[in-house]
Formats: sequence, structure tokens, C-alpha cells
Amino acid sequence: MSDYGIEVLWVLIIASLGLSAVALVFSISHRRHIPVAASTAGEDVISEAARTVLREFEKNGHSADAALITWSPDTLRKILAEDLPETQVIVVSNREPYIHNVNDDGVELLVPASGLVSALEPITRACAGTWIAYGGGTADRLTVDENDRVEVPPGNPSYTLRRVWLTEEEYQAYYLGFANEGLWPLCHIAFTRPIFRASDWEAYEAVNRKFADTVVAEARNEQPIVLVQDYHFALLPRMIRERLPEAIVITFWHIPWPNSEVYSICPWRERILEGLLGSSIIGFHTQFHANNFTESVDRFLESRIERADAAISYGGQTTLVHAYPISIEWPAELLARLPAVEECRARVRDRFGLPANVKLCVGVERLDYTKGILDRFHALDELFTRYPEWVGKVVFLQVAAPSRGSLPAYQQLHDECLRYAEELNQRYGTNDYSPLLMVAEHHSQEQVYEIYRAADICMVTSLHDGMNLVAKEFVAARDDEQGVLLLSTFAGASRELLEALIVNPYDTAMTSEALLQALTMTPEEQRERMRPMREMVRDNNVYRWAGSMLLDAARLRKRGDLDRVTGNGERPSNNNVISMFERTRKAVS
Ligand code: F6P
Repeated sequence: MSDYGIEVLWVLIIASLGLSAVALVFSISHRRHIPVAASTAGEDVISEAARTVLREFEKNGHSADAALITWSPDTLRKILAEDLPETQVIVVSNREPYIHNVNDDGVELLVPASGLVSALEPITRACAGTWIAYGGGTADRLTVDENDRVEVPPGNPSYTLRRVWLTEEEYQAYYLGFANEGLWPLCHIAFTRPIFRASDWEAYEAVNRKFADTVVAEARNEQPIVLVQDYHFALLPRMIRERLPEAIVITFWHIPWPNSEVYSICPWRERILEGLLGSSIIGFHTQFHANNFTESVDRFLESRIERADAAISYGGQTTLVHAYPISIEWPAELLARLPAVEECRARVRDRFGLPANVKLCVGVERLDYTKGILDRFHALDELFTRYPEWVGKVVFLQVAAPSRGSLPAYQQLHDECLRYAEELNQRYGTNDYSPLLMVAEHHSQEQVYEIYRAADICMVTSLHDGMNLVAKEFVAARDDEQGVLLLSTFAGASRELLEALIVNPYDTAMTSEALLQALTMTPEEQRERMRPMREMVRDNNVYRWAGSMLLDAARLRKRGDLDRVTGNGERPSNNNVISMFERTRKAVS
């Protein structure tokens, strides 16, 4: 071929490669941009294309490209109807989604300040499930039927809340003691020493057993899916497995899991791991915490760990260990009930007596030492020291729901926060200006969203946090695409909300500089940051979180059923996870 011929050939090759690349990019971008608006109520179907991907996911045992699906309550209902027909969903948590309390006018309803509740509530509604939880309200016993059940949400019931009663001694030792003075500080790096008492451990075990009895009593057949929530129930998965061998038990650990060195100080470390390994699946917010868990098992139990499959075999049963980042409802139902941002700003400023021209910075959480509340007060102090021109121009509103208030560590935090707020107000305040408002009261979700919408800046400065849903709620509340999020690098949310101003709350100088950056950020930059964060929360909403776990559960169940049909099931039927795991191994070898 002549030189000219070769040149022409090269041009043709390059042009055809270019065209293929353009076609590929075009097809991918079309596949990925399924507009949320396309999901009108009731029509939020999984498309055929998406189904094909899900089938592939089942075949290969890998995560589906779930971004193809618009995740909504309908998606969950469809997964349940088509992939897990007739399956009862049972949620177990310590905290109940609705608390009834006696007040002067009769009975009042309280929705607790809890990330767990805000995530699980829309899911349980969508699945019409049964939620088993501790009945801690003063009017809880007055509002249940003879089986300790109450239909919720009040006024528009869609699922059953089954309350479990604890004695005062059980509550003290299991909840305040082992869960919150032992496991909570053990799992969070916040430098609060865990306290372990044998009597608390005994109560913890007894209460886990009480909940296991309730799960068995509520199960309508042998094969429910049980969603066990959080560190209050580390022993429950194995207890359920022993009594309902065909149940699929999915345990979600809502807080971090420490490294194995830290974990080793727990006197009952083996028992906790054994209990959790009764689960079919254990979920964490981040891969990092899932890895820490696997390391702890590796160090303290005789087990077989298949890292490539994210699976642990222990005592003849296999558990999958996965990261499922939790999220929130999208769109948040209550947003529809709230007025425009301007009106929210006016209302909040009026309610807290704020001058109209100050920048409003907010913090919203339970009053907990892991949240870095004092650290953000330090950052405000530092801002005023470095940039005194900001005194008088910014107000920090800290809303802190009382939590675990009878424990000394929490009382101490409460007192320190009030003391520091008073000190800052004396130092920088005037007769009609207080730079720091500390409101240690419970606020309803509606009030909280109003505050988010009124704020110029939201500070999430956790010293350590599994996910932190306040960060996601703030983003969801800002349909005006304004507002700046300051987010701790030690919160799981910082792995997803990359456009936030990421800070190390231990670094006061850095946090105060980020605060300055937020105070002076242009509306255009706020929009540029807020928009992708909203897309992230929209596409990775709580229905996707639950849907991914349900799809994994469906896959386990189908493999187990298949084994029974094909005679591969020499093992008892509860070992459906093992057979799947071993088939993968056979295929590989
Ligand atoms: O962060 C762990 C967690 O269980 C959350 O899931 C929940 O929001 C919070 O603690 C609630 O704590 P409590 O039920 O003790 O008030």
C-alpha cells in the first residue's frame, strides 16, 4: 500500500474509533440520566432494561447498576411482590418510630430525633411491615391493643408497631448501660472511655432474648425477612437464626465499627461477633467499617473469610458483609407542607429573635458527645478572634435534642455547652445580639426542616459518625440550591457529599477558615456545590438503601430454594447462604 493509502487507512481507523467513543458516551449518558420527574406517583416502575441488569446482578452476584432505577416506595413494593412474594418484613429496633406520652391535655405523639427512625419509617410504610420496638413512652401502654400492637402512622396507618415492655432495671442496664456506656463509646472514636459491667451484659442478653421471643411471636410463617437495627441487638441475629432457621436476617449496624485493637477491649467480644454472625447479611455505612468488622472476626473467631466474596463462614453458616450507605426519603414528604425558603427564613428569625441582616449558621442533632458540638463553638470563637469584623454579623443556632440525659457523660456535655454558649455571648454579645443560641429541646421534623431552609450554613462536625443524616436532610431541604454545608471528614456522609466544605473538627483553625469561606461564598458557588449534592441524595435515597438489601435477600432466598429443588441441599435449609457461597467457589476452582 502507498504512503497515501496508509494515511487514509489511519484516518478511517481513528475516525471510526472516535465515532464509537461518542456513541458509547451518548448511550451511557442516556442510560444514567433517568429524570426523577419521570417517576410520577404510582408509575415508578422498574423498566425492562433495569430488570435485565438486576437479573445479571443475580446471576453474577455483583452489585447491580442500581443507578438505572428511580428508587421510590413503589420500587420496594415491586421488589417485594416480584422477588420476595408473600414475604413478611419485620423491623426490630430499640427506638420506636412513634412515642405516645402523657401530657396536661391527654396524650401527645412524639417522633423521636433519630436517624434510624427517619430512614426506616418510610421503608416500613412502603413494605406494610411489622416494626418491633421498646415502648418507652408514658402513654405507650394506653395506646396499644390487647396484643401490644398499634397501627401507625396515626391518622393514616400503613404498618403495625409492636411494642416490647422493659422493666426499669432492664432499661437502665441494657440500654443506658451496655449499649450506651459500653458499645457506643467503644465504636466511636470520641475519647470517652467505655464502661463494661457484667450486670449490664446479663441484662443486654436477656433483653435480646425478649426481642427474639417477640420476633417469633410476630412471624406469620417460617420465612420472614427480619431487619435487625443497630448496636442494641448484637445477640439477636443468632437467637432468631436458632428459632427461625429459614428466616433471612439482615442486620444493619448504624454506628462505626472500630479497628480490632480497640474492639479487643470488650470483655464479650467473641460473644458479640458470634451473635452478629447469625445474620444472613450484615450491613455497615462504609466499606471501611465493614472491613474493620471482618478484621475483628479474623482476629477473635475461628472462621473462614472469603474477602473476594465479602463473606464470612462461621460454625457452618455464612454471612455476607456489605456496605450499604444509608440515606433519607426523597423527596422528603414534609417538604410539601413547608412554605418557600423566604417564608421559612422569616419565621425562624422571628421565632428566635434574630436580626434580619445576620448570617444564620445552624447545628441540629441529639445532644451527644460524638457530634462535635463544642468543637464548632470553638470554631466560632476562633472566627471572631481571627476576623473580629464578623462579630455582630453572624448567629449560630444550635438545636440539640436531649438524649440519654441520665448518663454522666451526657450531663457533662450539656453543662459544658451551656457554659461555653454563655461565655461566648458575654464576650461577643450586646444587649440585642447573642452570637450563640443553644436550644436544648426536642424539635419536630417539620420545625427542623424549617430551620434547614432558613439557614445560610449548616455545620455537621461529628468527631466520628457512621453516616450522619442531618447532612443529607439539609441538602434535601434546599430546593432553592442555596446554603453551604460544612461537613466533618469523620462522618460517613463525607464519602458521598463531596461538594461540602470538608473539615477536620479537631482542627479549630481549619474549621474557622471553612466557616469564613462559607460566610463569603457567592450564590453561584453555593448553587454549583448544592446541585450535585442534591443529585447524589436523590439518586441514592433511602429506598435504594433498603432496595439493595432486599435484592440481596431475594438472591439468597432464590439460591436457597434452588438448592432444595435440585437436591444440592444436603445442608439444612437455613444454610442457603452457604450453598451460594460454595457454588461460587466451585465455579472459580
Ligand atoms: O446513631 C446511632 C443511633 O442508633 C441512630 O441510628 C439513632 O439516630 C440514634 O442513635 C438514636 O439514639 P437513641 O435511640 O439512643 O436516642
